[in-house]
Amino acid sequence: MNVQVPPLDRTVADRLARLKQRTPVLKVTDLVKTVPTPEGGERVVLDRINLTTYRREFVCIVGPSGCGKSTLARTIAGLEKAKSGQILVAGEPVSGPAPDRAMVFQAYTLFPWLSVLGNVKFGLRMAGKEASVVESEAEQWLGLVGLEPFAQSYPHQLSGGMKQRVAIARALAIQPRILLMDEPFSALDERTRARMQAHLIDIWRKIDITVLFITHDLSEALLLADRILVLRANPGRVVELLEVPALPGNRDLGSPAMHAARTHLESYIHADESNGEDTAAEERNIPLTVRLADVTDTID
Ligand SMILES: Nc1ncnc2c1ncn2[C@@H]1O[C@H](COP(=O)(O)OP(=O)(O)OP(=O)(O)O)[C@@H](O)[C@H]1O
Ligand SMILES: [Mg+2]
Repeated sequence: MNVQVPPLDRTVADRLARLKQRTPVLKVTDLVKTVPTPEGGERVVLDRINLTTYRREFVCIVGPSGCGKSTLARTIAGLEKAKSGQILVAGEPVSGPAPDRAMVFQAYTLFPWLSVLGNVKFGLRMAGKEASVVESEAEQWLGLVGLEPFAQSYPHQLSGGMKQRVAIARALAIQPRILLMDEPFSALDERTRARMQAHLIDIWRKIDITVLFITHDLSEALLLADRILVLRANPGRVVELLEVPALPGNRDLGSPAMHAARTHLESYIHADESNGEDTAAEERNIPLTVRLADVTDTID
């Protein structure tokens, strides 16, 4: 039995309506992805996925294991080929990886032989930035994630949360339009994870980025997202695109609307997480000087 979510509060509904008036950044149309079977056939993993996300929107993707969340992210990133359908980023068809999309994975993916600063500079060099700006921009992106003091450290000297902050800085440094995050915090302990969630929201509010964030954790999705894309498995299909019934920022998972949303999501997905009251994330104040993007259309 599905639990109905009550109508959105006026302020939340107005905000989402304004968000949908923004330029679509990502438009996925009837996307079908198949994988080969051992018998030489093919199996549908993603079945006619449709999704439009808007500039500076934060979308979480949830669904049972194997429903194709990572495959969807990798296909949008251009790392996998679709069988049919279309993916447009800022109106341009995706035909492979490009700097308008960056990915952060669950596994730590820093280059161990490069310093923290070196890791961020690497992305900037790959994006073809001039040597003269690489150093200063890399330092500013490290500042955004609060890791300037660790610029000369090496990945093995960092905690898991710090490694993911470097990975985020490295991804953002190339100034993508879309940041694809595949369970980026799921290897972190609960406290660190809560801090990272607050930190990511803080970063997202400061820059012009559309985030697609995959998670198994419904609390995490409800704390972070404007909208939550729910997939079901075998084959992966969109069940719903849920509008989160609260404004971004200090969301109260215990409020009646959020509780209803959570119960509604749980009816689709059996998340075996404990009822973590992890909303007490530290507020962080990150000094920022680099020109990141035009964020004058703030709707918060
Ligand atoms: N290259 C591939 N070859 C064969 N099967 C694949 C390939 N890539 C993905 N699959 C299959 O596609 C399905 C979706 O996998 P995917 O990793 O996208 O799921 P997921 O939703 O991210 O799961 P999880 O929550 O466990 O990370 C799975 O059944 C997986 O085995
Ligand atoms: Mg996955």
